[in-house]
This record gives sequence, C-alpha cells and structure tokens, in this order.
Amino acid sequence: MRVLSTFTSLFGLAVSVRADGNTTQLGLIRKASDPQVPPTYPIGVPKEPFAKTAGQLFNINGTVGYFAGTNAWWLGHLTKNEDVDKAMQQIADTKYKIVRVWGFGDINSGFRPTADTADPLRVWFQQHPAPNDTEANQVALINYSPENGLPRLDYVVSTAERLGLKLVLPFVNNWADLGGMASYASAYGGADASVSFNFFENDRAQRVYRDYIRVLVERYRSSPAIFSWQLCNEPRCEGCDPAVIYNWAANISAYIKQPDMDPHHMVSLGDEGWFGANAGYREANNASSLAYESHGGVDFWGNLNISTLDYGTFHLYPSTWGYSFSWGNRWIEQHADAGNRAKKPVVLEEYGSPQRNDHSTVLLPWQQVVLNTSIAADQVWQFGPANLSFDVTKMGDEFSVYADAADFVTVSQKHAQAMLDKKVVM
Ligand SMILES: *[C@@H]1O[C@H](CO)[C@@H](O)[C@H](O)[C@H]1NC(C)=O
Ligand SMILES: *[C@@H]1O[C@H](CO)[C@@H](O)[C@H](O)[C@H]1NC(C)=O
Ligand SMILES: *[C@@H]1O[C@H](CO)[C@@H](O)[C@H](O)[C@H]1NC(C)=O
Ligand SMILES: *[C@@H]1O[C@H](CO)[C@@H](O)[C@H](O)[C@H]1NC(C)=O
Ligand SMILES: *[C@@H]1O[C@H](CO)[C@@H](O)[C@H](O)[C@H]1NC(C)=O
Ligand SMILES: *[C@@H]1O[C@H](CO)[C@@H](O)[C@H](O)[C@H]1NC(C)=O
Ligand SMILES: *[C@@H]1O[C@H](CO)[C@@H](O)[C@H](O)[C@H]1NC(C)=O
Ligand SMILES: *[C@@H]1O[C@H](CO)[C@@H](O)[C@H](O)[C@H]1NC(C)=O
Repeated sequence: MRVLSTFTSLFGLAVSVRADGNTTQLGLIRKASDPQVPPTYPIGVPKEPFAKTAGQLFNINGTVGYFAGTNAWWLGHLTKNEDVDKAMQQIADTKYKIVRVWGFGDINSGFRPTADTADPLRVWFQQHPAPNDTEANQVALINYSPENGLPRLDYVVSTAERLGLKLVLPFVNNWADLGGMASYASAYGGADASVSFNFFENDRAQRVYRDYIRVLVERYRSSPAIFSWQLCNEPRCEGCDPAVIYNWAANISAYIKQPDMDPHHMVSLGDEGWFGANAGYREANNASSLAYESHGGVDFWGNLNISTLDYGTFHLYPSTWGYSFSWGNRWIEQHADAGNRAKKPVVLEEYGSPQRNDHSTVLLPWQQVVLNTSIAADQVWQFGPANLSFDVTKMGDEFSVYADAADFVTVSQKHAQAMLDKKVVM
C-alpha cells in the first residue's frame, strides 16, 4: 500500500493517506464516494424554515423583504471555535443576514501549505491526486479532521443556525486562492493543462467536482442555515462561448436540485455579472467595453433563464476593472433592470473599494442606488472582524470594512438597517 503523502496538522497529528483512500490514523481522510462516510454533521430538528425566493425578493424566516449581508470567506478556515463565535456574533450584531463563506479549500497531493499561502491557518477540505499518479489512484480525498478539515465548516454552519444567519457556500474558486480550478487543472488537466484546461468541460474534473458537491449537500441539506448552494466563486471560461458556462450551470444546478440531493435550498451561480451584447446595456458611445462583451464567457442576461438557478448574482469592482466608481451606479441599475425583466431576484453579492478605513466615499453612493432599486440583497466585500485571537488582516485585504474602523457605522451598520427598513412593494 503506497503512501501518497503525509500532512501534519496544526496540532502535530500526522495523518497518512494511502492511495485507496484508507487512512492509517483515525479514518479522518476519506474518498468522497466512500459509503462509510461522511461522519455526519450533527443536525437537530430545523428550527427555522429554509430561505426561499418570494417574487423578486427573499423570504428569510418568514419575513419577505430586503436584506444586507457580507462576505467572510475565511470563516470555515478558522481553527478556533471562539474566533468563529466572535466573528459571527459581530456579523449578526451588524444585522447582516446573509454571509458568503468559502465552501472549498482544495489542495493537491504533495502540497505543503506554508504561512504565505492564502490560508495561513492551513485548513483544507479536498485533496486532489498528484498529476503523475496512475489513473487507478486518481481519487480525490475529503478531510474530516476536526482540527483542519470539514468539521471547521460544520462549526460555521451550526453557529449560523444558532444566530439565525444564512450562508452562501460556493463549491470551487475560479481563482487559485485556496486551490481553486488550478488544483483541478493540475490533477486532471494533463501535460498542457496551463494552456488547454477547461474546468467546465473536463469530464474527470466534473466528476470530482460533482462528488464534492454531494459531500457538502448531503452534509448540510437539512440545515436552515444554508441560504444557497453556489456553483463557483466568479466562474470564468476565458475565450469560451457563453454556452459553455450556461450549459454547465444548467447541468450542475439541476444535479443539485434532484430529489435525492436537495430540491429545497436555493442555488446560485456566483458570477461577476458580465453582460453580453444581447442584453442591450452596452453604452452607446462605447464600442468595446469589458463589462458588456460576455467577459470570461459569462452572459448574465442569458444565465437568468436557467430555471434551476434561483437568483442572479453580480459583483462590482471598478478599481480593478478599469471603470470609474460612478459607473458602478449604472452597473447596479442595469442588473436591477435585468432582474425586473426576467422576474428574478438579483443580488449584488460582492462590492468593494480599496480605501482602507475610508470606504464610505465610494460605497455609500452605491448603497443608495441599491436602496433605490429592486436589488433584493447586497453583500459587501468583506467583513473585517475585531478582537480575534490572531492578526485578522492576514485573512483580509484593503477592501475589508473592519468592525472597529471608523467607516463601519455608516457602511455596515446603517446600511444593514436601511435594507431591513426598506418598504416592500410587490
Ligand atoms: C480499506 O480498509 C477496509 C477496512 O479496513 C478494508 O476492508 C479494505 O480492504 C481496505 N481497502 C483497500 C483497497 O485496501
Ligand atoms: C510525481 O512528480 C513529482 C514532482 O513533479 C515528484 O516529486 C514525484 O516523485 C513524482 N511521483 C511519482 C510517483 O512519480
Ligand atoms: C425566526 O422566527 C421565529 C418565529 O417568528 C422567531 O421566534 C425567531 O426569533 C426568528 N429567528 C430569528 C433569528 O430571527
Ligand atoms: C449533467 O451532465 C452529466 C455529464 O454529461 C450527465 O450525465 C447528467 O445527466 C447531466 N445532468 C443533468 C441534470 O442534466
Ligand atoms: C468605455 O469603457 C471603458 C472600459 O472598457 C471605460 O473606461 C470608459 O469609461 C467607458 N466610456 C464611457 C463613455 O462610458
Ligand atoms: C430566455 O428565455 C426567453 C423566453 O423563454 C427567450 O425569449 C430568450 O431568448 C432567452 N434568452 C436567452 C439569452 O437565452
Ligand atoms: C431612484 O430611481 C428613480 C427611477 O428609477 C430615479 O428617477 C431617481 O433619480 C433615483 N434616485 C436616486 C436617489 O438615485
Ligand atoms: C473589541 O474589544 C474591545 C475591548 O474589550 C471592545 O471595547 C470592543 O467593543 C470590541 N469590538 C467589537 C467589534 O466587538
């Protein structure tokens, strides 16, 4: 029996993984398809109804209305329960309802997390095989270690249940942070993966991805804390016809909605919201413009037609896209308009600007537009916690709005309340 690799957890516990997915210690690392697993997430009787759509709005715990939320990608990657408790309590105190948390943490066999990788605490959920492994050994493994595996995400889910928070869990990252599609490319992409790998149409990558989805969905599907399953963080298929992502998103969302999976929770895409020319929003005086030419093979307007996706998602980062901040107002209005035409809720699920401690100037005008349109919810990028046991700026960035910073009251607290107070017109 060949040992593929050995990981040392934060607590110094060596966990050896064998090629067949059996483990030498405690059985903490398993194949996704192993019938003996998962060690199930402890779930009581759901105390709240599941979040769902209500026309172009959401119904959370019986209330139909507008909601604000945030992103805190790192919550499932924290290693101490007290830190999760504190950060999520601060999020709930802000009156945020929807929290987007990475439901992934991919590594490749042979990977040694170091302090300078995106996740300084070295939590991971799925390990892909080494690229040069034999076909027979090409098995992805799930990490059930309480110290640094899926139980870390369990704790986030149970804390969300306790606090009445609703989670959006993306299954994979377009970007290489926390592994992402690059880790699938490395394992399943063959010798020239860097030029030819297409995650969305690679059969083996898709089989592993679907197995991973099944692990998470079966684990949390009876939890009222799930707001929506999300296919990807910012899916892009560079140079592809939008049909590639459309077909993939239709297929995977239908897979999740199957009766034996989870027909009850919402499903979303997690895209940046790029329009194609067909939506009619390209500005008249602008022949070529990143946001309106199905960038990365994404057609927001077309994807709204997928019946198994419950709502539309879009992001807003003018500072990295080469647009002015004021253009952001139109971007929000255009997506609200598309939602009105398609009669679906639309969520501005990431927006931010890189002015540490002074985000108000840029974000408040956008929030005014959100309040003045049919956008059902918005989620700022991202929540910056206070008083955790370690230097939280390691998980953050200059876009983070910290709970102990001067701009937190206006950008976070007042806006969350304003969304809750907004009158519902159906
Ligand atoms: C994995 O472990 C189980 C239980 O110990 C054993 O029955 C099975 O044969 C093992 N699988 C392989 C491929 O060795
Ligand atoms: C696979 O490749 C890595 C480096 O790319 C090498 O370190 C390792 O020994 C190889 N494993 C096998 C089984 O050939
Ligand atoms: C959910 O609704 C129930 C019934 O109205 C209420 O008792 C409970 O406090 C609500 N939960 C939250 C987190 O608001
Ligand atoms: C999704 O695609 C897979 C692979 O092509 C196929 O087996 C499956 O039936 C499709 N699922 C749905 C729900 O369309
Ligand atoms: C046209 O699009 C570019 C980005 O591609 C942007 O910088 C510019 O401001 C746009 N011009 C107008 C008039 O909207
Ligand atoms: C979406 O569906 C409508 C009606 O079913 C159709 O008219 C429209 O062309 C579709 N849009 C896209 C982009 O497929
Ligand atoms: C709100 O929207 C309406 C029409 O959609 C527009 O006329 C008005 O100027 C907007 N107000 C603000 C403050 O953006
Ligand atoms: C952080 O701790 C300080 C000192 O106990 C306290 O005053 C402050 O309110 C805490 N911040 C948050 C956001 O909880």
